[in-house]
Amino acid sequence: MPHLLSLIREDVTNVTEHDPAAKSRLEVFLCYAGLHAVWFYRVNHWLWNHRLFLAGRWLSQVARLLTGIEIHPGAKIGRRLFIDHGMGVVIGETSIVGDDVTLYQGVTLGGTGKEHGKRHPTLEDNVVIGSGAKILGNIIVGKNCRIGAGSVVLRNVPENSTVVGVPGHIIFREGKRVVITDPKQINDPLSEALAAVATEVEKLRARVRKLEGFEEKSEPFSAALQHIMEDIDYQI
Ligand SMILES: CC(C)(COP(=O)(O)OP(=O)(O)OC[C@H]1O[C@@H](n2cnc3c(N)ncnc32)[C@H](O)[C@@H]1OP(=O)(O)O)[C@@H](O)C(=O)NCCC(=O)NCCS
Repeated sequence: MPHLLSLIREDVTNVTEHDPAAKSRLEVFLCYAGLHAVWFYRVNHWLWNHRLFLAGRWLSQVARLLTGIEIHPGAKIGRRLFIDHGMGVVIGETSIVGDDVTLYQGVTLGGTGKEHGKRHPTLEDNVVIGSGAKILGNIIVGKNCRIGAGSVVLRNVPENSTVVGVPGHIIFREGKRVVITDPKQINDPLSEALAAVATEVEKLRARVRKLEGFEEKSEPFSAALQHIMEDIDYQI
């Protein structure tokens, strides 16, 4: 119990220092449902670890009723987890969450429905997951990563990266903009279709030039198209 109290104090201090919306420690203690859910989880996890599975599960459902946040008591969560706003957050049974992680409302740390055993994600320290993002499967999101609102992440993410999109792809890594040169890296059928169309257009342009009696090399693309096809290293 003394340990829980010191964790509560630490959580309140953390939010007071980092959330510009927080006006006082008392407000944070009383009004932040995300913290209440984490404090419930600490008790539920203790019950779970002492093989009081039903009690842990039942209390986690009470916490869900009160906060709108569902944290499975079997999940392993580090210190100073901040669930901002909170409603709709789900953290699955085999998730592992490092220290100083921030989750916004509607985040799911879930399974893909195909796996057994460790089937939920691992978030390393200092990760921020934007609202509505879904992190699915037994994947690792490396430390200091930021996942954009609404993203769906299905693959490991190397540390110090920013990921956006469905399916998620890296847009920044180690502070530098990432440009995808191979659309297959994005694993998005639409990007493959676009790449196929671009290749076909290139072939047709060359053929038209030939039929017109010019040399095979085609004219440069318009400036806008040139930018899209060459200048942007796009991980679509
Ligand atoms: C992903 C995120 C961290 C990136 O922030 P950033 O480093 O400042 O990046 P930028 O805003 O410069 O965006 C970089 C590119 O990613 C795109 N992008 C940013 N966020 C995106 C998202 N969630 N989904 C899809 N694309 C996104 C931008 O359009 C931009 O594309 P462009 O360069 O082709 O124009 C931020 O946009 C985000 O989603 N944060 C989550 C915040 C949140 O959930 N808040 C809830 C508060 S209640």
